Amino acid sequence: MVDRRPEPPLWEQLAAKSKLLPQGDRLQKVLARLGFGSRRVCEEIIAAGRVSVNGEVAGLGRRVQVETDRIEVDGVPVGARPGLVYYLVNKPTGVVTTSSDTHGRPIVIDIVPPEPRVFSVGRLDADTEGLILLTNDGDLANMIAHPSHGVEKEYLAEVDGGEVTSSQLKRLRDGVELDDGPTAPAKVSQPETGVLRIVIHEGRNRQVRRMCDAVGHPVRRLVRVRIGPISDRSLRPGEWRELSMEELRALTEAVAEETRKYDRGR
Ligand code: URA
Repeated sequence: MVDRRPEPPLWEQLAAKSKLLPQGDRLQKVLARLGFGSRRVCEEIIAAGRVSVNGEVAGLGRRVQVETDRIEVDGVPVGARPGLVYYLVNKPTGVVTTSSDTHGRPIVIDIVPPEPRVFSVGRLDADTEGLILLTNDGDLANMIAHPSHGVEKEYLAEVDGGEVTSSQLKRLRDGVELDDGPTAPAKVSQPETGVLRIVIHEGRNRQVRRMCDAVGHPVRRLVRVRIGPISDRSLRPGEWRELSMEELRALTEAVAEETRKYDRGR
């Protein structure tokens, strides 16, 4: 049967179509999703006039398209480049950080989704546990891995040989002689007997283990608990999550700060 109802007027047709078009999300929702805090906190950030969209200060309730609108908080653009992913993984022992292993051991990139393909930022020994970043952002990976931009890495080391004496702690802090040269000054404390908290900027092969060996306290267990501003005590071994936009920004800023220090001779 032919439908003989009259066509709706053009304006009505257009209005119906525009309802189907993406309207974008509210700015506070987008910022909250990017890790700037709760919706409430994001509303306050917007109300304080700290957010601009395409160069203009944005009001509360403003709708945005994250893919196309240029959003800035305090003048700093938000949003990663499309297609780039940043994963934080808590690597268990026995898993290697290379892209394949001739001994058939599990590899860290198999913990995260297979697409897009990612690589690890720096390395952890197979027998070391803890945090490692995986990304497909080559620029950031190179910046973080580069010794001149080396952000702090914090380790907890359980060592053999009982209490580490204050003179051994001092040696670790000042720099110990290794076969590939002395280590740079480090922050070292002993939160409990036989457990060291070690913060270094360098990323030399088996560095923490070799430092502890050098003062006569071989490492029994080594866990990386922080990379620059990134830590997460709730991530269990074998688990992963994406970095929030706030973490990514903090990491980028930490790298920039290290570069500045390096240029000024620390
Ligand atoms: N230092 C080490 O000895 N091993 C690691 O995996 C990382 C730092």
